[in-house]
Amino acid sequence: MSDSNNLKERVRAFWQANPCGTKFADAAPGTRRFYEVLEEHRYEKEWHIPQAADFASTQGLKVLEIGCGLGTDGAQFAGAGADYTGVDLTDAAIELAQKRFELFNLTGTFQTADAEKLDFADDSFDLVYSHGVLHHTPDIERAVNEIYRVLRPGGRAVVMLYHRDSYNYRVNISLLRRAGAQLLRWEPGVSLVHRLTGESLESLRQHATQLRNDQRSYLKSEEFLSQNTDGAGNPLARVYSRGEARELFKGFAKIELRTYFLNKRWLPLIGSVLPRSLESRLAFRWGWHLWIYARK
Ligand SMILES: C[S@@+](CC[C@H](N)C(=O)[O-])C[C@H]1O[C@@H](n2cnc3c(N)ncnc32)[C@H](O)[C@@H]1O
Repeated sequence: MSDSNNLKERVRAFWQANPCGTKFADAAPGTRRFYEVLEEHRYEKEWHIPQAADFASTQGLKVLEIGCGLGTDGAQFAGAGADYTGVDLTDAAIELAQKRFELFNLTGTFQTADAEKLDFADDSFDLVYSHGVLHHTPDIERAVNEIYRVLRPGGRAVVMLYHRDSYNYRVNISLLRRAGAQLLRWEPGVSLVHRLTGESLESLRQHATQLRNDQRSYLKSEEFLSQNTDGAGNPLARVYSRGEARELFKGFAKIELRTYFLNKRWLPLIGSVLPRSLESRLAFRWGWHLWIYARK
């Protein structure tokens, strides 16, 4: 197996074992309550998404979502009247997204598929949407080429990638979490970080295990980034600057970039009292989510 295929298999295994967002709902996966809690949590924490994705404007459009996860955004497209198709690398996500559509009487088509090799004809979709997915795939250039190929001329891509020049990457991950990692070597340090940050003991112990297993590799900057975005054990996450995002999408006719999301949990002390208006203004420059709007 080539290195790239091996990495893809590790990415698949990670998301198959940890379907995105399940940890935020205390209800049993696949129940109505589970999806309701997930949705409430998502749009409370990432309250910019409905505006940034503009679900309401997709009525009558053929929409493909790449990396649909549990189908929370997919349900908004379908609810707005889009002709929705969701694909994801894992069967776990596809099964849970399909279940969601069944429970809420929504219509959609689902497929387990790899963003880097889509099984759709050229010029098939009006909109391709992908939120928090392509920074986890080994060959992102191939995935962006696939988006271009399956979009009809004039069709739009809306893609969210993690932002390199963000507070979360430059300060939280690269400085604060790195300093905190030193404390995870000892159990009292784990408890201290838990008390200071509110991060669960379970998550911190997973990080401590990774650190103990192979300290040198865990602390390498690429590995540290992967481990400190979507949970310990995540084999791959990358960040992109505005310039790198423009370069990736340079084949498209028109590109616009916007940044959103300043997770208040990462702002010790002031986070809980920060009004949304100020949060938006800071996120406009230092947000963690870099939204790319591109037209074919
Ligand atoms: C962080 S979750 C995001 C899910 C959803 N878009 C959201 O915003 O909640 C990442 C998802 O991308 C999927 N994924 C990763 N690599 C992929 C690939 N090459 N092709 C399709 N899906 C992929 C994973 O299986 C996982 O469901």
